[in-house]
Amino acid sequence: MKQVLAIYPGSFDPVTNGHLDLIERGSKLFDRLVVAVLQNLEKDPLFSVPERVEMLREVTRPWANVEVDVFDGLLVEYARRRKAQALLRGIRAISDYEYELQMAMMNRKMEPNIETVFMMPSVKYSYLSSRLVREVARLHGPLKDLVPPLVEERIRAKVT
Ligand code: PNS
Repeated sequence: MKQVLAIYPGSFDPVTNGHLDLIERGSKLFDRLVVAVLQNLEKDPLFSVPERVEMLREVTRPWANVEVDVFDGLLVEYARRRKAQALLRGIRAISDYEYELQMAMMNRKMEPNIETVFMMPSVKYSYLSSRLVREVARLHGPLKDLVPPLVEERIRAKVT
């Protein structure tokens, strides 16, 4: 029987409740879901990649078919190596669509056999992004309902 493996790539700095909502949806649709953290040299990260991976592993523990990994270089190369059939991306609003469409089309040009699948998180997360979480965190604003409690704790420990 065909087993569908999907990659859910991103920066996850930090993982938010919006990401978790998508991971839960993806874990139901696909046989296996790999949450893949991009190992990039971002200018001003809040968390290191190992810290992000550790938090992701902790908060995705409830889903037995979800795995957390790190990748660098081209996403389609990584997906080919993992023998993935799909890339999962979240779309919160129309404004996300243009950039996501460009990426999906470029990825399709490079690897026509891998499909990008877009899913919408719950509308209650439609305004939520890691970038805004980092900003609110650095300004000591409230993070309840935006990130899992474990991430909130780690943020508190980091920005005090
Ligand atoms: O959560 P993000 O930061 O929006 O995720 C962006 C990500 C990691 C999916 C994208 O930057 C990516 O795939 N980078 C890997 C390099 C690559 O393959 N670039 C070409 C994309 S068309």
